Amino acid sequence: MTYRICLLPGDGIGPEVVDCAEQVLRTLPLDLEFTRAEIGFSAYERLGTPLPDSTLEEIRHSSAAFFGAVTTPPAIPNYFSPVVRMRQALELYANLRPCLSIPHSSSRPNIDLVIVRENTEGLYSGIERLEDDGNRAITERVITRKGSERIIRKAFDLARQTNRKSLHLVHKANVLRQTCGLFRLVALEIVKEYPDIRMHEMLVDTCAMELVRAPQQFEVIVTTNLFGDILSDEACMLVGGLGVAASANFGVNAAVFEPVHGSAPNLVGTGKANPVAAFLASAMMLDYLDEKESAERLRKAVKDCIVNNESTPDLGGSLTTSQVLERVIQRI
Ligand code: NAI
Ligand code: MG
Repeated sequence: MTYRICLLPGDGIGPEVVDCAEQVLRTLPLDLEFTRAEIGFSAYERLGTPLPDSTLEEIRHSSAAFFGAVTTPPAIPNYFSPVVRMRQALELYANLRPCLSIPHSSSRPNIDLVIVRENTEGLYSGIERLEDDGNRAITERVITRKGSERIIRKAFDLARQTNRKSLHLVHKANVLRQTCGLFRLVALEIVKEYPDIRMHEMLVDTCAMELVRAPQQFEVIVTTNLFGDILSDEACMLVGGLGVAASANFGVNAAVFEPVHGSAPNLVGTGKANPVAAFLASAMMLDYLDEKESAERLRKAVKDCIVNNESTPDLGGSLTTSQVLERVIQRI
């Protein structure tokens, strides 16, 4: 079967790691057809928008999309985060961020958890305004029953499919009584459909602490948008850091895969960007396309490189981005 893959390189190290991912994917025995679409600050400078409609169209017409990273400067009037907008426009409501121990000294052992982050609402609703001559700033935190139901079901289904027995519902309903209150209420209803999975409730600040203290206790964490964003960056530091953290965005009719990291302007052109996060995101994409054998081959090649210390400086190695790429391709 031919898969049409839309590449979204973006800004900063985005194009570098997307290029690496493309080359690795071309090495595997798969029938892939690649297209490219614009996103990010570079697109804005050329086209006047960081997310052209044509990009959304291209993703809709693809089997899957692979996104690098974008730079989102905070101080440009009327600018918006194209990632947040893309997730909303394509209804990519579920952001899955696995944290799995890697065979490396920077990683703590026996961690195998997935953070399931709601991806379209919450504090990232995009509904913001200034009042009182700019002296009062308001962002609306929107939680809906529909949005909560689908993300919580996704998390329970994932737990079941991967033979996990527990799920942590993470919120702050003691303070955010309405928004987290609704999220929690919906979970208490849905858990009844999954008698095989034990649900634990945890406040988000406690969860942040427990992730550092005893991360092995977690199997699946389901939470709202901002909390998931923060906890997943925290969690990835337990297992090697941003250079190896991959994620998937799932919607109703589209799926976008990406490394968790941003555009890392400090690393552009230095050869220090770790391409492993992009490789592991590519493996998640292959799982989604049901090309499990290729996904495993890629993961094994990456793992063997890490074990042999063939890595970029963030993992203590001395190889450049393209040298790591070469080694992974050789092992495939
Ligand atoms: P960042 O993720 O770009 O970098 C954070 C730290 O991790 C930096 O020290 C960087 O050098 C390091 N790092 C990142 N990727 C790495 C890799 N592949 N290998 C080795 N080290 C790596 O986050 P930062 O610096 O807070 O933000 C930079 C820009 O990225 C901002 O404009 C921000 O808006 C954007 N951003 C975009 C995201 C996306 O496109 N999904 C996600 C996060 C931030
Ligand atoms: Mg983030």
